[in-house]
Amino acid sequence: MDTAKLTLGDKEYELPLIVGSEGETGVDIRKLRGQTGAITLDSGYGNTGSCESAITFIDGEKGILRYRGYPIEELAEHTTFTEICYLLVYGSLPNKKELEQFEHELTHHSLIHEDMKKFFEGYPPNAPPMSVLSTIAASLSAYYPANGDPKELELNIIRLLAKLKTIAAFSFKKSIGQAYIYPRNDLEYAENFLHMMFATPCEDYEVNPIIAKAMDRIFLLHADHEQNASTSTVRLAGSTGANPFACIAAGIAALWGPAHGGANEAVLKMLDEIGDEKNIDKYIKKAKDKDDPFRIMGFGHRVYKNYDPRAKVMQQTCHEVLNELGVEDNPILKMAQRLEKIALEDEYFVEKKLYPNVDFYSGIILDAMGFPTSMFTPIFALARTVGWISQWKEQLSDPKHKIGRPRQLYLGETERAYVDIENR
Ligand code: CMC
Repeated sequence: MDTAKLTLGDKEYELPLIVGSEGETGVDIRKLRGQTGAITLDSGYGNTGSCESAITFIDGEKGILRYRGYPIEELAEHTTFTEICYLLVYGSLPNKKELEQFEHELTHHSLIHEDMKKFFEGYPPNAPPMSVLSTIAASLSAYYPANGDPKELELNIIRLLAKLKTIAAFSFKKSIGQAYIYPRNDLEYAENFLHMMFATPCEDYEVNPIIAKAMDRIFLLHADHEQNASTSTVRLAGSTGANPFACIAAGIAALWGPAHGGANEAVLKMLDEIGDEKNIDKYIKKAKDKDDPFRIMGFGHRVYKNYDPRAKVMQQTCHEVLNELGVEDNPILKMAQRLEKIALEDEYFVEKKLYPNVDFYSGIILDAMGFPTSMFTPIFALARTVGWISQWKEQLSDPKHKIGRPRQLYLGETERAYVDIENR
């Protein structure tokens, strides 16, 4: 089978089939409109492959996630976020020397231009860190022009990965009125971020290794997730030839919504609203009621119709963190565990294949680590930046890539005669 047949009216057309390395079949419709005059309609893009990619593989039915072929569970156990950055951007795991060099670069590009501090001063005191992060990410293009030189392109990728964590931490400090804390070259990526978030000029922040490991895992597990809404936004922006910083700013904006990156924050708000274990049954009932908009946040996924493999790792990390912090009896965690148990056994959730997703536990961990909810989505953005830029780079390296330009099915008025304003 190497073609699919399409019958339109009394004509039959042959459409080529493309088979991916995991056996997935794609019907190639790139010539469909030219040959038939028809287009496909797929709002929400649930059945549309927008690109060919060799970065991330997901099998939502089986609960599989792999970066460049490596299962996420193994990567979470054995590697660090910076190794994952190298893997996603360059395609293979680094050897010791390569990793050392890469980490050196990532650390030594962490400072932002001193003039950029003035940007933060212009925001109102309680500006959401997400709004600051997206606009300042775009502003990086004013400092580091992308002139198409391959060396400059590679350097801009490093700059982006290195500086975004500094911008995120500065935006948090701005939102609470504290002095900005500069990055330190002796700290690793996750440690450095925790230091910039929680140290003050009068007190150093001693980075707890278990907390730093958890932070690193959160970054690693969120690093890429193939063609989700924000990544597709980055690719679409990139397809026009826009500079990488502008494309990442577009991705940050797309991630902001509660149906995407905002879900971890929503989980915590929901647990707060439920308030007590004794109210869980009432909320499960609400979630099952078709006339009630309430949903169990952190449950369900567009792609995973099985346990989200990232959620399993996150659950274990959650226990490690709460144990380390001596808050294992945290009522929020108890409630989350009870909710998870009930939902996993409930016919409604089982039938609809609604399992906990990565955000179900990440919000609880970040809360216990001392992050305000307003920083949850910026942290997701920091982690996903490497996925976005890897996908952007992959697209750019494809000489056949085209500007993204979907069609539409027009359902409006057909041509009508103009009526003068006095006669309307
Ligand atoms: N609680 C209760 N019912 C649900 C839930 C939920 N969390 N999620 C889906 N359903 C029901 C939904 O009502 C629908 O029922 P019916 O078939 O009777 O109309 C059915 O399950 C299928 O739902 P859907 O909305 O058609 O599924 P989708 O694939 O379009 O949506 C989702 C996926 C993630 C938007 C949705 O499951 C949801 O809103 N979950 C809560 C928000 C959340 O946790 N989002 C984070 C996603 S993971 C982070 C990321 O990758 O960005």
